[in-house]
Amino acid sequence: MRKIATLVTAAASIATLVGSLALLPTGSSIAAGNSASAVDQGKKLAFNRKKGNCLACHQIAGGNMAGNIGPPLVAMKARFPDKSKLRSQIWDATKANPNSAMPPFGRHKILSDKDIDKIVEYVYTL
Ligand code: HEC
Repeated sequence: MRKIATLVTAAASIATLVGSLALLPTGSSIAAGNSASAVDQGKKLAFNRKKGNCLACHQIAGGNMAGNIGPPLVAMKARFPDKSKLRSQIWDATKANPNSAMPPFGRHKILSDKDIDKIVEYVYTL
């Protein structure tokens, strides 16, 4: 019985910890302003064929006619526990893979830093 009580207490404190972590603001969501609308704007930028055009190579939930040159964008928080690594992948994919087919959106100024921030916010929800 005592063991169960200890387990329950441990589970409760883990839940509290996870809950408070979720409330912690991240640097880029502050920079992008209201994070809910940053996510919406990021999705539009990612899907826009004249902006991110991410669907040319990546399957993304809700996207049509996706290509498969790159991996499907799923479980991004698990793939990128460090959000700055995700941003770096989008800013300049050649940093992680010098032969990447993915355009270096930031380094080649294909997208502005602000737009990349919004796309990161969106992709991190996938
Ligand atoms: C021309 C094809 C192409 C386009 C366009 C493209 N990517 Fe990629 N992407 C790739 C490839 C290929 C990889 C596999 C890793 C590598 O080679 O860099 C990749 C990898 C990634 C990864 C890492 C995935 C993982 O699970 O490791 C993310 C995140 C990503 N791309 C996001 C984006 C976003 C966001 C956009 C749009 C702004 C985009 N990509 C546009 C080809 C592309």
